[in-house]
Amino acid sequence: MAETKTQPWWKNAVVYQIYPRSFQDSNGDGIGDIPGIIRRLPYLEELGIDAVWLSPVCRSPQDDNGYDISDYQDIDPMFGTLEDMEQLIAEAKKHHIRIIMDLVLNHTSDEHRWFLEAKKGKDNPYHDYYVWRDGEEGTYPNDMKATFGGPAWEWVPELGQYYFHQFSVKQPDLNWENPKVRREIYDMILWWMEKGVGGFRLDVIDQIAKEPDRGITNNGPRLHEFIQEMSRETFQKGDLITVGEAWGANTENAKLYSAPDGSEFSMVFQFEHMVMDQKEEKWDLAPLPFVKLKKDLAKWQTELYGVGWNSLFLNNHDLPRIVSRWGDDGKYRKESAKMLATMLHGMQGTPYIYQGEELGMTNVRFPDITDYRDIESLNMYKERMDAGYKEEDVMESIYAKGRDNARTPMQWDASKNAGFTEGTPWIGVNPNYTEINAESEKKDPDSVFHYYQKLIRLRKEYPVFLDGKFELLLPEDGQIFAYTRTDEDAALLVCVNFTGEDASWSMPEEFRGARTLIHNYPGEGPEGTLRPYEVFMLYKKK
Ligand code: GLC
Ligand code: CA
Repeated sequence: MAETKTQPWWKNAVVYQIYPRSFQDSNGDGIGDIPGIIRRLPYLEELGIDAVWLSPVCRSPQDDNGYDISDYQDIDPMFGTLEDMEQLIAEAKKHHIRIIMDLVLNHTSDEHRWFLEAKKGKDNPYHDYYVWRDGEEGTYPNDMKATFGGPAWEWVPELGQYYFHQFSVKQPDLNWENPKVRREIYDMILWWMEKGVGGFRLDVIDQIAKEPDRGITNNGPRLHEFIQEMSRETFQKGDLITVGEAWGANTENAKLYSAPDGSEFSMVFQFEHMVMDQKEEKWDLAPLPFVKLKKDLAKWQTELYGVGWNSLFLNNHDLPRIVSRWGDDGKYRKESAKMLATMLHGMQGTPYIYQGEELGMTNVRFPDITDYRDIESLNMYKERMDAGYKEEDVMESIYAKGRDNARTPMQWDASKNAGFTEGTPWIGVNPNYTEINAESEKKDPDSVFHYYQKLIRLRKEYPVFLDGKFELLLPEDGQIFAYTRTDEDAALLVCVNFTGEDASWSMPEEFRGARTLIHNYPGEGPEGTLRPYEVFMLYKKK
C-alpha cells in the first residue's frame, strides 16, 4: 500500500468484515471457524483489502453470537484455539492483512467470571463491576427497555437487587464508573496488542457511560473522558486502527471520536445514513428519502474534512444486504450492487466491505420463523405476535431488516451448502448460491467481485480519494447522486443513477473529455441519459 508520509496508514486502507460463524467452516460442524478464515486468506488478498475486522471470537455462550463474552482472553472452542488465533494473525501478515478484534466492552456475558462473582454477594469485590439497584421483585427501578426487548432490569432474588442490561438478560452492563473495571479492560487490551493484532473495533462504545437513574444510555457525560483514558493507556502505545461503533454519533461528537491528534479512536462508525428508511423502530419500514440521504452523506463529508475521519459502509452483520435494501436484487442486481459500491467508495473515509457484499449477496426469505436464529428477530417476533400483529407483517419486517439477512453463509461456490460446510450449516444457505458465488464471479471479468477489486485498487492509485475536498452536485435531484472530489492536482467526478429508470444528465463542462476510471456499463461515461443504476467515475488532472 502506498504509505503517505503525513497520513496514517489506515486512511488509505480498505477493511473487510468477517462474521466468523458464517464465513468458512473447516471441520464439518456447520459453524465457520478460524482455520476456515486462514484457508481463505488468499481470496482476501486477491480482493485487495488491508485489514480484517473479525466479529467476536472470544469465549462466549453465544446468546448474541459472541457479543456476550465470558472470557476476553480465550477463544471460543467453536471457533478454534488461542493458537489458531495467533496463527491467523501471523498468516494474515504474510498476506499483508492486519487483524482487527471486536472489543465488546459495554457488557459481558452473565457467565463471565466477574459476573458469577458479582452475584455472590453485595460485598464481593466484583459486585461493583456491574450496575445494580436495590428494589423489590416486580417493581423495576425505572421503565427503561432493553434493545432486544423487555425491561432493561433483571431481578436477582439472592441479592434482592436488579442488574442493568441494555441488550439481552445474558449481557449485563459493565460499570465503567469503577476504576478497577477500566484497569482490567486496559490490561486485557494490552495483552491483545502484545499478540500482534492490528486494531480494534469498539462495540456500542457510546453506551459505556450510561447513567440509568437519569435514563441515559448513550453519550453519557463521562463518555469521552473514559475513551480518552482508554486510548492513552492502550491504543496510543501501538500503531493501530481503532474504530468506535456509535449509533448515537453526530458530526459534532464524531470530531472527538476521530480527532486527528489520536486522543480517542482512528475513526467513527456512525449510522445516520442507515436509519432513514424506517419510522421510530427499525422494524417499521419507510421509503428511503433519497434527497435527505444525499444531504446527510454530504454533511459528513464536509463537516469532518480535516478535523475527523469517518468509516464508509452500507453493510455489516446487523444490517440487511444493501443490494436488496437500496438496489434491485432481481433484474439489475449486478448494476445496482456496483452502483452502491461506487457511490460509497468515492467518498472520503475508510471503506468497510462486509463479507459477501463484494459478490452482491442478497437478503434471504426463509419460509418460517423457526428458520431464523437472531435473538433480536426472535424476540421481536414473539413480542409482536403477542401484541396481535399479523404474522405476514412481522415476517415482512424480518425479511426487510432482520440481521440474519447478513448472516447466511458466505457463498463460495455452487457445490453443496455453497462450499461453506460439509456438515449442516447453523443457519440456512441462501438458495441463490448456485448463481451468486465467489468461484463463478472470479471467472467473470464483469462480476461484482472484479468491480470491487478495481475500486480498491483505484483508491490506492489516486491520492484524490484520500484528501480531495467533497462537493455535492444537483442536491435536489431525485434520481442522481453526483459529487466531485478535488485536490491541488486533480478532480474526480462520481455520478450515480440511484434508480431503475433512465435519468437525464448533462456532463459538467470541466469533465468533458476526462478519463473514465470505472463504469458499470460498457464504454465511456455518458454525456446524456443515464441508464438504470448506471454509474461512472471520471478523473481529470489539473
Ligand atoms: C453491536 C453489535 C451487535 C450486538 C450489540 C450488542 O451493535 O454490532 O451485533 O448485538 O452491539 O453487543
Ligand atoms: Ca467449524
